[in-house]
Amino acid sequence: MLCLLLRHLERKGYKFFRKILCIRWVLVLSQRKNIIMKTFQTLLTEISEGILTITINREEKLNALNAQLIVELGEAIDELYNNDEVKACIITGKGPKAFAAGADIAEFKGMSKEQGIFLAKRGHAVFNKIELSPKPVIAAVNGFALGGGCELAMACHIRIASENAKFGQPEVNLGIIPGYGGTQRLVQLIGKGKAFELLMTGDTIDAVCAERLGLVNDVVQTVELLEVCRALLHKINGKAPIAISKVIECVHAHFKDGIDGFDTEIEEFSNCVSTEDFTEGTNAFLEKRKASFKGK
Ligand code: COA
Repeated sequence: MLCLLLRHLERKGYKFFRKILCIRWVLVLSQRKNIIMKTFQTLLTEISEGILTITINREEKLNALNAQLIVELGEAIDELYNNDEVKACIITGKGPKAFAAGADIAEFKGMSKEQGIFLAKRGHAVFNKIELSPKPVIAAVNGFALGGGCELAMACHIRIASENAKFGQPEVNLGIIPGYGGTQRLVQLIGKGKAFELLMTGDTIDAVCAERLGLVNDVVQTVELLEVCRALLHKINGKAPIAISKVIECVHAHFKDGIDGFDTEIEEFSNCVSTEDFTEGTNAFLEKRKASFKGK
């Protein structure tokens, strides 16, 4: 109604109202592009074209993961689960040097066993939430991914690294072991022998080596890192969302104790068959057109 009135006044030649109209549309567009979500002290978040980008924002500490950051990361990931506008997520680090250089070592001083249990369980809960997300999550690894940083990248479904990225689990240098799932996910990704080597030596490896081991999916030029990740997610977002979530579920079933992943696949395959997207996908193929999936 307001819009119609402003348009009418503008047609009548009231230039002042043209300005109001412009401001209004800028507001509407900015709200559409960057659907406002909670702001965080340790993270930057942006939602654009269905992709939630979470940037770890402690550049001066090489994006070390302190307690507040872990809590905020969990809250930011809730947006991925709960916001229908969000179809996928990228996690990256601020600045040219680090994705995340590990848990914040400054917070380790004087830690008791009970606090150690609490810290590890809290990290596990957040990283599991990332891993189990029904929507795809990519780690855009833009530099050091050490300790908890490497564990965070491993909790994501896909890892794309920039040429300067470095990976490692150096916890043994501090007299501890990984506490955010690293001993498990590293074995899953690169196998037992190489995982033992990296976990026992605390060595850091470069992006090319990480790709050779299967720790990262691809290595790209630093300047194009985010663009490559976005393009990959747009490609995935063009597929049937329920099918994508079932792929995630079935792959995870492989690693769950007491669950036969083949049974999970039979179950989820049949669940996909009863979706509208399955009908749309098969019709589109037969009619030689691009499928338009609705996630139903
Ligand atoms: N926790 C807390 N602070 C960290 C950190 C971490 N994991 N990693 C880096 N920082 C801080 C440094 O203390 C320094 O802070 P300051 O400027 O206030 O002194 C700042 O980030 C820059 O790091 P710096 O060590 O000066 O950079 P560098 O380029 O010389 O070295 C690393 C980079 C990554 C090799 C080195 O910072 C490092 O080894 N970090 C710890 C890695 C680790 O063990 N992670 C596992 C933790 S469980």
